[in-house]
Amino acid sequence: MTNIVILTGAGISAESGLGTFRDEGGLWAQHRIEDVATPGAFERTPDLVHAFYNTRRAQAAEAGPNAAHLALAKLEQHHSGSFLLITQNVDGLHEKAGSRKIIHMHGQLDRALCHVCGYRWDAPTVMQTGDPCPKCAAQATRPDIVWFGEMPYQMDFIYEHLANADLFVSIGTSGEVYPAANFVAEAKHAGAHTLELNLEPSSRASAFAEVRVGKASQMVPEWVAEHTL
Ligand code: OAD
Repeated sequence: MTNIVILTGAGISAESGLGTFRDEGGLWAQHRIEDVATPGAFERTPDLVHAFYNTRRAQAAEAGPNAAHLALAKLEQHHSGSFLLITQNVDGLHEKAGSRKIIHMHGQLDRALCHVCGYRWDAPTVMQTGDPCPKCAAQATRPDIVWFGEMPYQMDFIYEHLANADLFVSIGTSGEVYPAANFVAEAKHAGAHTLELNLEPSSRASAFAEVRVGKASQMVPEWVAEHTL
């Protein structure tokens, strides 16, 4: 039995029509991180931050999973060992494809978080400054997104799985953002085979034992087919 850990990034959702962050014309070419993706930005200009995530929430709601998301859901269903899908993506496309053993380490667009009491609930399509928390009524609700300078979710659980991984596969991520960029080193340390599937070799490509270059919608189903033979 193989213990599989998979990490996905924005590249897996690119062919579903959702923009990546660092490719040409990507989200971080259109918006400054410090304006929309930090706790300080939300303190200074909450309306702007809500508008940014409201737009992205609407885009994600319209998007459908592609062949890569569907293949990973199929792998989860057929795999007999342990399986964990860690995504940096805040869209819900893995769930729409049928994935269930999934961690959103950077949060989710369709969830809201109360800054005061920590309560989480399904986000409305449009969130606004001053929306009250359904539990404590504080007017301090925010998108349930991990911003720069904040700790990604469920790191202990993730490191536990990486420490027991036999196979670590990274799909559609530039390897520019830590701690996710270091998962390959953790998995390697545990003795896992490490594979990168990306449109181009990422900045962490040299850390992987195997690198395959191409589109996720082609490469992921091909790799899953090999693996479930
Ligand atoms: P990036 O935009 O940094 O990287 C996307 C990667 O996907 C690039 O290496 C592309 O070459 C690759 N790619 C693009 N299209 C592809 C396709 N069709 N098939 C396969 N690969 C493709 O996005 P992430 O690595 O996900 O965090 O970014 C990591 C984090 O940085 C995000 O979660 C977000 C961002 O700032 C937060 O907002 C906290």
